[in-house]
Amino acid sequence: MATHTIRVEPIGAEIQCREDQTVLDACLREGIWLPHACTHGTCGTCKAQILDGDVDLGDASPYALLDSEREEGAALICVAQPRGDVVVEGEVDVDEGVGVHPVRDFTGRVEVLDEIAPDVRRLVLALDRPMEFNPGQYVLLEVPGGHQRPYSIASTPADGKVIELHLKRSENGKATDGWVFSTLAVGDEVALSGPYGRFSFRPLRTQPILLLGSGTGLAPLKSMVQHIAENGGGHQVTLYHGVATKDDLYDREFFEDLAQQHDWFTYRPALSREEWQGRSGRVPALLAEDYPKAGGHVAYICGSPAMVEDTMKALMKARLFPRDIYREDFFDSADRAAGANVVRSPLIRR
Ligand SMILES: Cc1cc2nc3c(=O)[nH]c(=O)nc-3n(C[C@H](O)[C@H](O)[C@H](O)COP(=O)(O)OP(=O)(O)OC[C@H]3O[C@@H](n4cnc5c(N)ncnc54)[C@H](O)[C@@H]3O)c2cc1C
Ligand code: FES
Repeated sequence: MATHTIRVEPIGAEIQCREDQTVLDACLREGIWLPHACTHGTCGTCKAQILDGDVDLGDASPYALLDSEREEGAALICVAQPRGDVVVEGEVDVDEGVGVHPVRDFTGRVEVLDEIAPDVRRLVLALDRPMEFNPGQYVLLEVPGGHQRPYSIASTPADGKVIELHLKRSENGKATDGWVFSTLAVGDEVALSGPYGRFSFRPLRTQPILLLGSGTGLAPLKSMVQHIAENGGGHQVTLYHGVATKDDLYDREFFEDLAQQHDWFTYRPALSREEWQGRSGRVPALLAEDYPKAGGHVAYICGSPAMVEDTMKALMKARLFPRDIYREDFFDSADRAAGANVVRSPLIRR
């Protein structure tokens, strides 16, 4: 397989990239961190200018990389592969206090595969070696049939040899319906790589934290809460977890116990389709009730793209600036086919 040299400007670093490898993958494996979120050509976060040389643009969504941008030499480097030596201009911006952990390949043995809510499974993998990552980041699972799917890590880097994932079943989904919810079993071996993503806890931001998740969007937020607890608190944290019904509310006891033990942590579960003794309503609506003014906080949102977008709007209406909001959209194949165009403002962190 031919290999080409990629020069990354403005830092001038030079790395090697195989023809069957994406530019982003080659960079991340060499510890050169460039912005990315979905790693599947859907979100546009990794858009970069190719200053010189040829790339195959790969499976870039036409909604995330417009024809006019293609003509001007832009590429989505998470799917673009080199066809010769290439010079790429990237935004090499790593926030202070956030670690840069090169992407590596791992083998994981399935230790736990439990149904924790209707159509939601907890998958715990014992890795062949520890993975270093920031709370909030994700892994790519190799799915039988040659597909890859991203899943957020719900456990903390403290024990990087065991990682926990939360997976929601998608009807006819290749990874979930067709594998994790059908044939995968305890003891099986799984190939994966990581860590990926820019949705990670910013330890140096000392403002009170709002963690806002729906469904399995809880996963990276659980990693953050546990990480803060392991490091002795030090941040005021309020976690909203929105689900449809009481049965969908997984890990409730875990968070209730944590809230009882620590003054710095508040847990606010919410049901959107059921009345109960707790709060009912969608997270964006509850936020609007609880925080008519949200300025002075830092927020991390995670879940379906629709939930993330609505929550983002609620926060901005409450005067929280985009620079204080981090988001992870769980895009899937249906979002991509529907043309989830997601590149809105360079100020919005994802
Ligand atoms: C950064 C990131 C992190 C994520 N983390 C998590 C997580 O922690 N937990 C979690 O549960 N999910 C997470 N996701 C979503 C996850 O990666 C998968 O997208 C999801 O599990 C579905 O995968 P699948 O292979 O089962 O379904 P897919 O095969 O991708 O299909 C998904 C749905 O789309 C439909 N579909 C497929 N192709 C088309 C088409 N062409 N047109 C219309 N519909 C179509 C399928 O029938 C199915 O219902 C994350 C996503 C991202 C981007
Ligand atoms: S990270 Fe490349 S398009 Fe999303």
